[in-house]
Amino acid sequence: MKITVCIGSSCHLKGARQVVEQLQYLIAENNLKNDVELGGTFCMGNCQKGVCVTLDDKPFSLTPENTKEFFQEKILKKNA
Ligand code: FES
Repeated sequence: MKITVCIGSSCHLKGARQVVEQLQYLIAENNLKNDVELGGTFCMGNCQKGVCVTLDDKPFSLTPENTKEFFQEKILKKNA
């Protein structure tokens, strides 16, 4: 699966960097490097919902606080 994180300026201010770092860490920690592709994209036009993330083209709205939960719910459970 593929996760894309918006790195536009509005999402950046809301913590896109921390979201990316957490995702990188979680992917490594769970040995999912071959299963999960992490990428970035410019502004998705949904700034008020930032940090904007898509998972296989489905939109999600993350914060550094709920990134781990998102990962557990949407990635680990799906992969289990
Ligand atoms: S900066 Fe992320 S949607 Fe606009």
